[in-house]
Amino acid sequence: MTLIDQRDEIKNRIREAADIVQVIGECVELKKAGSRFTGLCPFHAEKTASFSVNPQGQFFHCFGCGESGDVFSFMMKYHHLTFPDALKDLAGRYHVDLPERKMSDADRARMQKRDQLYRINKSASTIYQDYLLSSENGESAREYLRQRGVPDEIIIKYQLGYAPDPDVGGWKFITSRLQSKKFSTVLIEQAGLAVKKDNGGYYDRFRDRVLFPIFDMSGRVVAFGGRILGEGKPKYMNSPESMIFDKSRLLFGLHQHREVIRKSRRALVVEGNFDLLLLAVHGIDNVVAPLGTALTRQHIKSLRGYCDEVVLLFDGDSAGLKAARRSIPFFLAEQVEGKVALLPHGHDPDSLVREKGATGITDLVERAKPLAEFVFEALVEEFGLTLSGKSLIMQELAALVQEASDPGQKDLMVAHFSEKLGVSPARFLSGPVRSFQAERQDVGESSRSFQQLPRKQRQLVDFLVLYPEFLQELQKGGLAKVVTEPALQELVHSLEQLGKMGPVAPEQLLSLLPGEKDRQYVADLLMRGAGAGDEDGERGKALCDELLLWIKSALRQRDGASLQKQIHEAQRSGDFALVESLLKEKMNVIREKRLLSR
Ligand code: CTP
Ligand code: MN
Repeated sequence: MTLIDQRDEIKNRIREAADIVQVIGECVELKKAGSRFTGLCPFHAEKTASFSVNPQGQFFHCFGCGESGDVFSFMMKYHHLTFPDALKDLAGRYHVDLPERKMSDADRARMQKRDQLYRINKSASTIYQDYLLSSENGESAREYLRQRGVPDEIIIKYQLGYAPDPDVGGWKFITSRLQSKKFSTVLIEQAGLAVKKDNGGYYDRFRDRVLFPIFDMSGRVVAFGGRILGEGKPKYMNSPESMIFDKSRLLFGLHQHREVIRKSRRALVVEGNFDLLLLAVHGIDNVVAPLGTALTRQHIKSLRGYCDEVVLLFDGDSAGLKAARRSIPFFLAEQVEGKVALLPHGHDPDSLVREKGATGITDLVERAKPLAEFVFEALVEEFGLTLSGKSLIMQELAALVQEASDPGQKDLMVAHFSEKLGVSPARFLSGPVRSFQAERQDVGESSRSFQQLPRKQRQLVDFLVLYPEFLQELQKGGLAKVVTEPALQELVHSLEQLGKMGPVAPEQLLSLLPGEKDRQYVADLLMRGAGAGDEDGERGKALCDELLLWIKSALRQRDGASLQKQIHEAQRSGDFALVESLLKEKMNVIREKRLLSR
């Protein structure tokens, strides 16, 4: 049996074991109606029941919104599960054994090793925290945290710990404790808690430091960050990367804060661990901090699952500006709205929130500027908008554009910045800047720009730009017949051209549209990331359906108008049989239209 056969077989067994009426009945109140069950559709708002479950066919269908599927698709859609998770959930509930995936010896050894590393970190975290909270010698650390404004609840919530000074705890405080719990010294070293000496002995990595456990998304401790008490170098020290710790992926605080971030749809990024703690002390919980590294694309990606908007709270110094600048391509690539809020000179979030309270931060966040705009303005301030200033700005931006990971993102950035500078995209990356006036005259405007289209046609443009994959479906629904505006016809044509080359990335459009204004319109649309957060294409599908309905009713309207004309003519020529059949047809049109507009 191939793997696919095996999967199908399991799917079938679960489908048989799981009663679709029962599974759906747990979420929707169902009433028996003949051989079917009906209820209010959980996938769209309705007052009369148009959702029906068919036990014979083991499927559901909503006559209102058109949603349909089997027990797996219901679980996936209703509970937001992936297919494997829906499968696992149902298998567990209906006692269908899923075959264990065969593991090689090497796989098993690796798994056991990871498991040990998790245990070691967990154990260390407990020891460090106990030491902080209850040892006599932990007092210096407790006093330090008090001074910095960190109360006990916060110590507990973030499971902070303390690694003692070697004068007090010895050089093997944690190493020997873990050894006595029968953990292998080699693994203690691999977890980063012990450091090997040249002569073969071991000593603790963290000494006289407040420790911040770093959790992965499953809530396991995978590393520590440590801050020295008071002065001393290095000020911060982190666990080295290991099998279970990749600092370019993890963010301090994401584990504790993800629910709050999910609810507020926004994440704040601060630079330091104490910044995060002090914001939390003041009730601002949607915060994360990278672990002493620049923000990576992986960081943005992991935030993307929880929010639409990320606000960077950075120092106004040049390092902060550089960091913001470097992160632009990642935000574009992940389609997350990035913003920057600059801190007042000499402040970090920690000092600001202590001086001004939570509003000091929330005010800043409300005034945060979109990343691209922020970087552009900073460059304009630095170089000015003279011709030579523009040249320098272009050089800076060109370097930035080069960092963008894929060509679509490059086009998008070029389109955005070239408009801002008043130069054509083609010349953006090469050649000197000509005068503003000359540039303007270069640009042939199309008959009517997207901006000026009638509302519904503009909605079509917006949709097609963000969801080019639905072009064919709309065309099948009669798109060509309702598109009367040349600007929109041109867009459809461009999309068709692109489609011939394979799957379309929205940004590719930018290189095809002839009009500067249209390019800008599209770039703005994409910059706003309106397509973000639609991984399963649900929103796209819903919008597409809505537009299809509109096209249908627009066509009906036209049919109705032409029918009316024919009726007039038939009456005038006295062909009453024709009049009657035309009237019938018109009634049908009216009835269908009423159905559509319900
Ligand atoms: N960091 C790090 N390794 C370093 C320096 C810094 O991991 N060698 C990380 C830490 O997570 C730290 C953050 O970068 O919290 C910010 O460091 P820094 O700018 O030095 O923060 P300060 O505000 O100076 O630190 P503190 O408030 O603790 O005095
Ligand atoms: Mn600080």
